[in-house]
Amino acid sequence: MLYKEAVKIIKNSKKLVAFTGAGISLESGIPTFRGKDGLWNKYDPLILDIDYFKANPKESWQKIKEIFYDFMIDSKPNFAHEYLAFLENKGILKAVITQNIDGLHQVAGNKNVIEFHGTTKKLVCLGCGIKYKSEEISLDSLPPVCDKCGSILKPDFVFFKEPIPGNAYRKSYKLVKEADALLIIGTTGEIMPASEFPYLCKGKFIEINPEISKYTQIKTDIFLQEKATVATKKLKEFFMP
Ligand code: APR
Ligand code: ZN
Repeated sequence: MLYKEAVKIIKNSKKLVAFTGAGISLESGIPTFRGKDGLWNKYDPLILDIDYFKANPKESWQKIKEIFYDFMIDSKPNFAHEYLAFLENKGILKAVITQNIDGLHQVAGNKNVIEFHGTTKKLVCLGCGIKYKSEEISLDSLPPVCDKCGSILKPDFVFFKEPIPGNAYRKSYKLVKEADALLIIGTTGEIMPASEFPYLCKGKFIEINPEISKYTQIKTDIFLQEKATVATKKLKEFFMP
């Protein structure tokens, strides 16, 4: 039985790491990027291109505010996020490496979260580099500017053509290399360099996704073809002695 086998791997792991993508937050009301209702079907990914943003800050910010602030701001963690916090509290899950920028893993209670693509929860000044908490900055007039130097503020997440934060890169590399099991939830496995990290893991792969991803045929040992909340509820049920 797939779930029993998955729980056995999870319980016996010494270095379990979770690797999550947009799919884990879909049931919190946050759309994925790809797939039938994906954001990139409605919005041009150009708004997240760093050169375009710097040349058209107001226009980019209008769309960014709509997608990542107005819409996301009231999202709450779902059972899948809470399940990962449960595993961390049990001392089983060592870290979550997430491609998501919604901060929901931390709200659910996970402490060791590596935000590979940064976060919407902070804004960074393009002039002096100072960071602000997003909730402290009004987005009534766009683009928001730095109190200190007057330069434009940018969400502190990775735009296309921007580098991955060095710290996140190094920590993720080490964690995945040393992991004896990976729990992959809700990602197509298409976007590099994030998508390359799971291949570094020599341990067992448990994948949760209602659809096949790039990993499923190549790396996945146990494929739980379900929505994240459904699969994690079953994993929790089997977890209990
Ligand atoms: N539960 C789990 N997975 C789901 C669910 C669900 N309820 N619904 C959809 N999915 C899966 C889809 O099948 C798909 O594989 O979530 C995945 C979402 O894919 P993407 O939208 O491509 O998200 P992700 O893989 O995280 O994208 C990676 O691309 O645009 C960049 O920076 C952005 O971090 C993002 C990166
Ligand atoms: Zn500044």
